[in-house]
Amino acid sequence: MTQKRVLSGIQPTSDSFHLGNYLGALKQWVDLQSGNDAFYCIVDLHALTGDIDPALLRKRILSSAAQLIALGISPEKSTLFVQSHVAEHNQLGWIMECIAGFGEANRMTQFKDKSAKGGADTARVGLFTYPMLQAADILLYQADQVPVGEDQRQHIELTRDLAIRFNTKFGDTFKIPEGYILKSGSKIYDLQEPTNKMSKSAGSVAGVLEIMDTPEANTKKIKSATTDAGREVTFDEKGKPGISNLLTIHSALSGKSVSDLENEFAGKGYGDFKGAVAEVVVEYLRPIRTQALKLLQDEAHLIKVLHDGADKARAVASATLAQTYKNLGLVL
Ligand code: TYM
Repeated sequence: MTQKRVLSGIQPTSDSFHLGNYLGALKQWVDLQSGNDAFYCIVDLHALTGDIDPALLRKRILSSAAQLIALGISPEKSTLFVQSHVAEHNQLGWIMECIAGFGEANRMTQFKDKSAKGGADTARVGLFTYPMLQAADILLYQADQVPVGEDQRQHIELTRDLAIRFNTKFGDTFKIPEGYILKSGSKIYDLQEPTNKMSKSAGSVAGVLEIMDTPEANTKKIKSATTDAGREVTFDEKGKPGISNLLTIHSALSGKSVSDLENEFAGKGYGDFKGAVAEVVVEYLRPIRTQALKLLQDEAHLIKVLHDGADKARAVASATLAQTYKNLGLVL
């Protein structure tokens, strides 16, 4: 297998990552770091597009680093860093804003959804230009693959369009990246409203399984997940969205196939099945949470790991930025 360049990012916008983040993206981050050249970024600048609470932001950036390491991102195997430590992200972000059309930026569904929530007039300009900064994150590293969940597909498409446009007009500069989006797990749903995606900004805390939650809290959330009509544990996304979501979660964490799980729970009720899901989730997350809490006790070490990562990232990013400036006719 030839080595690929991998890049992805996650926002530090919550005290804990949730199971949607993990199954949609972070689990693939861990898998892809072996045999590839992977760059993983805590995108703190993107997090500034929401409400900013400085003390909380600082805490969440460090907690994000601790969680990523605890769930298997190895700073030896991959480059783990914070976006704001590498100034080239902002610099290429501006270039991408000058390449993107207003119309195409205006079609981004995530911008439309998020700005609609708070009222379009109060949405920040940074929320609008967010996808161009994301394109810069990816293109700076000449990434081949970008492991993300389904909700990021449109942003990856935009990144590809911008890279192709730039290369066509100014000469070969950027690798054209591909999204790495798995069929199963790329969209995990809210436990209470299983037709909505599990989300940090979701209305219902009860529907979101958090890595840093206590085992008791997560068990309670799974046991009180919305119950579909019927009694059989079968995968049917339309007819039984709640049970199907739980089957996806169990399967991804236990490694058992969905059809094996259907057989295992044939004739048993939803209650038994939810109990089994709770056990699988809790036992899977338990060591991750314990390890993250331990890592958080040594802030200086975490910051050193992130600084070392930023040094490695900067070496790649600055070369791409210099080539970009040169191709644009800027005098170096
Ligand atoms: P963010 O921080 O919202 O989410 C991080 C990752 O988790 C995935 N995800 C999900 N997957 C499955 N089911 C869900 N319910 C679910 N919720 C979230 C997301 O798809 C994502 O992969 N814009 C990005 C951050 C970003 C980025 C980048 C990603 C900034 N620059 C460069 C890749 C490359 C975001 O907001 O992700």
